[in-house]
Amino acid sequence: MHKPDAMLLERARAKAEAAGYPLASPTKHRRVVLVTGASAGLGLALARRLIAEQESQQYYIVLTARESSLARFKTHGINASETVWIRSLEVTDANQRCELVAEIDKKLGGVDILVNNAGVAYRSCVEHVTEPERLHQMNINFRSPLELIRCVLPGMRARRSGKIINISSVGGMMAMPTMSVYSASKFALEGASEALYYELKPWNVSVTLVQPGFMRSDAFAKVPYTVMSAKASSDCSDPYHEHYHHMEKFIAKMMGRALATPDSVASKVTRIARSKSPPLRVYGSVDAVAFAWLRCLLPRRFYTWLLYRNLPNVRQWGQR
Ligand SMILES: NC(=O)c1ccc[n+]([C@@H]2O[C@H](COP(=O)([O-])OP(=O)(O)OC[C@H]3O[C@@H](n4cnc5c(N)ncnc54)[C@H](OP(=O)(O)O)[C@@H]3O)[C@@H](O)[C@H]2O)c1
Repeated sequence: MHKPDAMLLERARAKAEAAGYPLASPTKHRRVVLVTGASAGLGLALARRLIAEQESQQYYIVLTARESSLARFKTHGINASETVWIRSLEVTDANQRCELVAEIDKKLGGVDILVNNAGVAYRSCVEHVTEPERLHQMNINFRSPLELIRCVLPGMRARRSGKIINISSVGGMMAMPTMSVYSASKFALEGASEALYYELKPWNVSVTLVQPGFMRSDAFAKVPYTVMSAKASSDCSDPYHEHYHHMEKFIAKMMGRALATPDSVASKVTRIARSKSPPLRVYGSVDAVAFAWLRCLLPRRFYTWLLYRNLPNVRQWGQR
């Protein structure tokens, strides 16, 4: 069990103070942007865009990645400087979260814009996800972003300004078979963010959910199977084999043909960072707009019937 993050944050702040970090200037004029999972995909594209506009927008940029992925920044030509910090952050680690926020509070005067981007997407049917796998998925996509938000909020409330940008997904507005826990994690993130939007309005702190649909990237190749779904997807005699086989091909095709790229979605995120009062939800791609309208306009029964009928080779599913 983690100790409550508030206690850890207090302890990390005291440690930073003892280490003699200079107190942030009360008249700081550069805004501090903190990005999680910046070593690949959307996070990396966002890092590039933020760096390109750091002088015009007066940003301090804090790019974070897991220790094992830090070397990728150099490979992609991103180097640390006075205004671009590169820090190790495993988002599920409470100590790392609190120490990083305490360091930013002390040296830069606090986080002004938090982009919760780090995420994973397990590919698995409900029957094939064990409790530890389910918790792992929820921990990265839902629990950790919320804990990081809780770390930065006291500072944002005190300054009466700030932006929380949570990278959600079309999977957070509609669920697809074989992506059950991923959708659960993004639906949870959407629900909490919607409540947070109203809670933080009085302090002028905005909350925005970015909902990308399919992005043309190699992220799908990295999608982890659970232990049981990996077995089922390669075993032709498994009752769920057709589900995995056809959905995997379908999603890979959709991602390969997608108009949206990590860079096009990153440009929407930077627009939100620049915006005076961003909305609660921003579509990340054209297919996200289409899915949202389908969901709004079609009667519920017809919507689920239509989606089911259009699943790839669905007539073959469950025939073994
Ligand atoms: N790709 C899509 O089509 C798509 C669609 C809708 C929404 N999204 C969302 O967009 C966001 C970015 O996805 P992406 O496509 O850019 O994925 P990606 O290329 O796989 O990048 C994910 C990033 O998150 C990091 N990460 C994963 N687990 C972490 C952890 N425990 N602690 C710290 N960092 C961690 C990864 O670091 P490592 O490199 O160290 O693993 C990587 O930098 C995610 O929230 C995802 O759900 C993606």
